[in-house]
Amino acid sequence: LASLKAKVKNGLRQFQDFPEKGILFEDIMPLFASHALHTALIDAMELQIADAFQTQPGEKSEIDVIVGLESRGFLFGPALALRLGAGFVPVRKQGKLPGSCETVTYKKEYGEDSFQMQSDAFEKGQKVVIIDDIIATGGTAAAAGSLVRKIGGTLLGFVFLMELDFLKGRDKLDAPVFTLLSGQEESSAEDS
Ligand code: PRP
Ligand code: MG
Repeated sequence: LASLKAKVKNGLRQFQDFPEKGILFEDIMPLFASHALHTALIDAMELQIADAFQTQPGEKSEIDVIVGLESRGFLFGPALALRLGAGFVPVRKQGKLPGSCETVTYKKEYGEDSFQMQSDAFEKGQKVVIIDDIIATGGTAAAAGSLVRKIGGTLLGFVFLMELDFLKGRDKLDAPVFTLLSGQEESSAEDS
């Protein structure tokens, strides 16, 4: 896992002063542009999840559903769900999903946003892991956790590619949190 993590970390690209002056932006897209890096990324996340939730790599896990958060969580979730023998369910920004939905409003750096999940997205009691690229303040992930519980899911935990530790976002989450990499003090992946 250590060598996979190093490979993934080296695949990230930093942009100074994006989207605003003073922000060092971590660009995750090179991880998907290269087949080798994409494979290393999904291998590493699969191993991490196997460690975290005690499943065997390559075998069906006890995880029923991977929930990915719009929009960068959609890059990780489906590939991991295939590996883990689980389903994939999206959390989307308000107004994008048809039918009966649950809604949770959360704070962003500027103002508020609302997340939704379809009320029948999974069965009550199903075991769920939430995936996203980055945890910063934790507001986004906390909102997704509330949605999963509103629908009756058993939340096993959260998995992120990267954590901006100094923001202490994990303190907002009431289920186990696992991250592959941790970010530098001046880093941010906010792009809005
Ligand atoms: C970014 C990132 C996380 C979230 C983390 O998403 O992808 O989802 O911020 O921030 P937080 O922990 O402070 O809540 P963003 O809302 O910028 O949207 P995107 O994924 O659609 O690009
Ligand atoms: Mg996001």
